[in-house]
Amino acid sequence: MNKKEWYKNAIFYELHVRAFCDGNNDGIGDLKGLISKLDYLRDLGIGCIWLLPIYPSPLKDDGYDISDFYNIHSDLGTLSDFKQLIKEVHKRDLHIIADLVLNHTSDQCAWFQEARTHPNSPYRNFYVWSDTNQKYKETRIIFIDKENSNWTWDEAAGQYFWHRFYSSQPDLNFDHPLVREEIINILRFWLDLGIDGFRADAVPYLFEREGTSCENLPETHAFLREIRELIDHEYPDRILLAEANQWPSDLSPYFGDGNEFHMAFHFPLMPRIFKALAISDRTPIIKIINETPKIPPNCQWSTFLRNHDELTLEMVSEKDRVFLWNYYAKDTRMRLNLGIRRRLAPLVNGNQKIIELLFAIIFALPGAPIIYYGDEIGMGDNIWLDDRNGVRTPMQWNSKANAGFSNADKKKLFLPIIEEGRFSYQQINVEDQLIIPNSLLLKMRRLIACRKKYEVFSQGTCNFPNLGNQSILAIKREFKGESILAIQNLSDKIIAINPLEYNLKKSYLIDILENNTKNSTNYINDEIRLEPYGFKWFLMKK
Ligand code: GLC
Ligand code: CA
Repeated sequence: MNKKEWYKNAIFYELHVRAFCDGNNDGIGDLKGLISKLDYLRDLGIGCIWLLPIYPSPLKDDGYDISDFYNIHSDLGTLSDFKQLIKEVHKRDLHIIADLVLNHTSDQCAWFQEARTHPNSPYRNFYVWSDTNQKYKETRIIFIDKENSNWTWDEAAGQYFWHRFYSSQPDLNFDHPLVREEIINILRFWLDLGIDGFRADAVPYLFEREGTSCENLPETHAFLREIRELIDHEYPDRILLAEANQWPSDLSPYFGDGNEFHMAFHFPLMPRIFKALAISDRTPIIKIINETPKIPPNCQWSTFLRNHDELTLEMVSEKDRVFLWNYYAKDTRMRLNLGIRRRLAPLVNGNQKIIELLFAIIFALPGAPIIYYGDEIGMGDNIWLDDRNGVRTPMQWNSKANAGFSNADKKKLFLPIIEEGRFSYQQINVEDQLIIPNSLLLKMRRLIACRKKYEVFSQGTCNFPNLGNQSILAIKREFKGESILAIQNLSDKIIAINPLEYNLKKSYLIDILENNTKNSTNYINDEIRLEPYGFKWFLMKK
């Protein structure tokens, strides 16, 4: 594969520096701690790290409220630690991207403070002000649990300011040329430090226009293409990943003609995987993949099961939302905004077979899959913590004090470790899973290694042979004469398939997940037997 297109075949690992490993024992994870765990990530087999926001911030939105775009949050370390991190990442042949918030700043950002207190300041126009709160009324509110308007009155400014998220996150005014210039400076600053790209946060909302939803506007796309041009020109091997929680038809413009984003999250796929599992029926997955528009050859989807936010149900019908809430979040405490604040393992009652199955599905489908830190060991959540903090608790490294995350006094930890029940760190941790045969962690390593071995997974065409039973999701990928057939059982029943019935007779099926030397089993005459929630991946040989 073209080296410039490294992102198409990489497995991404999303991590919260604050929650990963504490290097100086103050109770907060930091860059030094992360550096000490890079070998773990390399051994897992991932190709690219995605860091949640690392910038100075009052942390009203866990760092998505940036107060200084040109520095590292002092809890996490310094710019020189950051340079060290990049060096160590690249030494291991890994890539690293970081979250970057373009849409808004913190209200503690010096620009906003200037803007509100000095009407004549050059920063006044950095934000979107109005004498009334009646403009842009067709724009939805995103954090409906906490906000009831996108306008907030500012006493010092004597005007309302516009914000799509918390009122502590004023939106930047992208109509102002100096804002666009500043964004370009910020990008260059981090790219010059060697970062491999950005996960660009909340990109649909950059511009506002009366009479529209203020989302996905042509002006927004035009500016994003400008950023891409800069990257292609000055930093050709770096990438932009779009966070746009939108329907497929609104998502595909973010790829442009291969001249906007390199990648975009596939938001609509994720809840449909959970629905397919709940009803043991492949239909929702096949339908959404078939409805997904084709993307330019230099682009790639980013697929995921969970992330640092609530499992969003924005991209499903009202009926499905209620169904998924009732199925996966019976306790209303588990619900937040239009989603579910739970981690992967608790969503499936800690069933390791199901966790493996779900990863097998996103690994076999088109796209570059993301693993959310801790999901590779089946970490749990704490729904009693505020907001989305319950899915951002410290990584569980071992069964010693503070789960091996920090040597600080337990009371100083930035969030409590999960220490009760079946997901407690004594039950679920990296160290144990490294020695337990067939632990989730070791299975994940094998799955990742297998996926990386076959280029067809990242490049190939995708179709869905019908192998009868609706609970069987068969995914066929083909690329340059190589064919892979991945068969997944979405049900809790054993299912046997007779390949002869399904036109597979001219192919030998070579099991590529069984790592013994007899893996050249000829399945032509044998039935394929799938355990409950089991899966098998085959290389098809003529
Ligand atoms: C994105 C982030 C989310 C954050 C929001 C506002 O949706 O994923 O965590 O709260 O942007 O910046
Ligand atoms: Ca620390």
